[in-house]
Amino acid sequence: MEFEKIVMERYATKLFDGRKIPESKVNELLELIRYAPSSFNIQPWKIVIVTDSKVKEKLSPASWHQKQITTCSHLLVFCANRDIAANINLLEREMVKNGAKPDDIKSYIQMMRDFEKGLSEDEKLSWAQRQTYLALGNALNGAKFLGFDSCPMEGFDPKEYSKILNLPKNLVPTALCPIGYAADKQKEKLRFPKEEVFVYD
Ligand SMILES: Cc1cc2nc3c(=O)[nH]c(=O)nc-3n(C[C@H](O)[C@H](O)[C@H](O)COP(=O)(O)O)c2cc1C
Repeated sequence: MEFEKIVMERYATKLFDGRKIPESKVNELLELIRYAPSSFNIQPWKIVIVTDSKVKEKLSPASWHQKQITTCSHLLVFCANRDIAANINLLEREMVKNGAKPDDIKSYIQMMRDFEKGLSEDEKLSWAQRQTYLALGNALNGAKFLGFDSCPMEGFDPKEYSKILNLPKNLVPTALCPIGYAADKQKEKLRFPKEEVFVYD
């Protein structure tokens, strides 16, 4: 599918038909998410994949009873990982595994550690959440590319989600992406005119 068609035909699906997406397709989507860009390549996110209908039922009241939660095939819970230091350590190990010489990457890694030390706890969360939305973007367009539908969602209670999904403190549910096959129809897109959006200097 042409990228322009993906962008124009993707829409925030309000109701899915309950059919399951084949796992091979879901795995393709997970790869598109995994390759999202992030600042310093720190990848400060973790995506929890909910498939159990009992868990979805539990999450429904914590999501304003929006029907996407119980009718989707898979519910992707995009969590920001505010333990940025742990991810820097992981990234260092992965770079070495990939052939980097520890001495060659020392100053780059130190730059990341200094950056992390300079952030308050609130700033760490905000920074991690901003990166997480880039991964969400890949999920939304990626789903359409692979032939199914999605909905970006912030209408949920992150604290309740953390409890129900038993998440560790470093993970903060930030946005949802239910995926499945739409049972509704796309409405005409409304966007601000170009003059409102773009400014040439
Ligand atoms: C961060 C974010 C949060 C959103 N939260 C919800 C939500 O909780 N429920 C919902 O039905 N749609 C939600 N939307 C969908 C938007 O309303 C929708 O993207 C917007 O109206 C544009 O429509 P389109 O995506 O169909 O082009 C959200 C979108 C974004 C980007």
